[in-house]
Amino acid sequence: MERLQKVIAHAGIASRRKAEEMIIEGRVKVNGKVVNELGVKVGANDKVEIDGVPLSKEEPVYYMLYKPRGVISAVTDDKNRKVVTDFFPHVKERIYPIGRLDYDTSGLLLLTNDGEFANLLMHPKFEIDKVYVAKVKGIVNRYKLKELEKGVVLSDGKTAPAKAKIISTDNRKDTTIVELTIHEGRNRQVRRMFEAIGHEVVKLKRERYGFLHLGNLRPGDAREIGPHEVKRLRALATSKDSRIIF
Ligand code: URA
Repeated sequence: MERLQKVIAHAGIASRRKAEEMIIEGRVKVNGKVVNELGVKVGANDKVEIDGVPLSKEEPVYYMLYKPRGVISAVTDDKNRKVVTDFFPHVKERIYPIGRLDYDTSGLLLLTNDGEFANLLMHPKFEIDKVYVAKVKGIVNRYKLKELEKGVVLSDGKTAPAKAKIISTDNRKDTTIVELTIHEGRNRQVRRMFEAIGHEVVKLKRERYGFLHLGNLRPGDAREIGPHEVKRLRALATSKDSRIIF
């Protein structure tokens, strides 16, 4: 079940805010009855009409973007900063990001207009492995790596077991590049995990999402995700073991 305004927005009719207005104005019917209050939820079998016209769902589309740094993982920004959907000027469907990468984080981000798919991939129970490459201040030793792997205590609880390996160290600049694989998706999780072991992240990039990787995309490039990949992502999310199969 999804909120009525979300269903209308995802059908490509209007933004969520505009959909709320349409509901309040009494223009929306569910199963033949006007619904003019917010908070109503509808399921796949409910018949939604706007101004008497049945809602037909947009064709689902799926993309991946190599999000550059300095871009917001959203569809609009009240401060007029660049948002991830700015990279899809030719896509007419109302796509939105599945989860988010911080403003300063670059890397692989999925976008879709398929709400059910987005919810599936973001559900904590089904979280898929994501591989990050972090450049951090200081030289990370193997005890610290072990701490990351076993789980560190953050303000919102201990992190789940992870995988961490050192890619390179630069003694002159006093930095380390670490690859960290996690399957949770908490807010600023990677940055906070490194903070917890005393190494500040100076650069962060998401390289992989499940079996998907950036390949030869460059920052700002996007490509469509094919039906086979979508099917594999669904299978990965719903399988008991969603760890990466490289
Ligand atoms: N972890 C972070 O700290 N930032 C991101 O953007 C993604 C994961």
